[in-house]
Amino acid sequence: MIRLGVNVDHVATIRQARGTVYPDPLAAALEATAGGADQITIHLREDRRHIRDADVARMKAAIAVPLNLEMSVSEEIVSIACRERPAAATLVPERRAELTTEGGLDVAGKMAEVRAAIRRLFDAGIEVSLFIDPDLRQVEAAGEAGARRVELHTGACCDAKGSSAAERELDRLARAAGAAKGMGFRLAAGHGINYENAATIARALPEVEEYNIGHAIVARALFVGMKEAVREMRRLLNP
Ligand code: PXP
Repeated sequence: MIRLGVNVDHVATIRQARGTVYPDPLAAALEATAGGADQITIHLREDRRHIRDADVARMKAAIAVPLNLEMSVSEEIVSIACRERPAAATLVPERRAELTTEGGLDVAGKMAEVRAAIRRLFDAGIEVSLFIDPDLRQVEAAGEAGARRVELHTGACCDAKGSSAAERELDRLARAAGAAKGMGFRLAAGHGINYENAATIARALPEVEEYNIGHAIVARALFVGMKEAVREMRRLLNP
């Protein structure tokens, strides 16, 4: 069974657009769990544009499935993670001007910082995954940094224009997934996955055990409700 992590950041995006207390990302997480989410994923960004510090603590206290905190390697955010102790942390790159996480973490180029963050998170009892591009150099660097899990960035594949570009990107993902599995990594994937491309991607990447999907599920939930949106995505991943 492929696991589905539901990212509820964009429920908080709607809340922050007006500075209200609704919609509550925790309420969305509980609905997602009722619909079959295996994990809840949230990204505490340095600029706090959607998820806020209090959301992390409330989520951790109230959900019955593991909490996966996406986060940068900044000292402040690593300290918050060590205090809140989510089940898992996924280290991602972060640039303030970006619309969303636009590329994978350059593990090779940030080895000392990534290694230090992994060590602190491990010491706090948190599983750590590195969000990387499907690039063999980054897979190897993730191993050198001490990670045992990686999440492959599917954005380039999902955003590819035209079927041959998408196939090329899917092939790149499949090669990276095969190499990572061969090196003993546990594998997740995510970014840009929607109701059109999920089944194709999941079929092409049998090594991937977990998908983290946010934007498409929150968007679908507007029309069918969160529980049903999660059920539909689970069926696509596990036909
Ligand atoms: N995985 C990671 C590491 C991410 O940073 C994101 C975006 O927050 C996702 C998965 C989910 O991406 P999307 O919202 O496009 O489904």
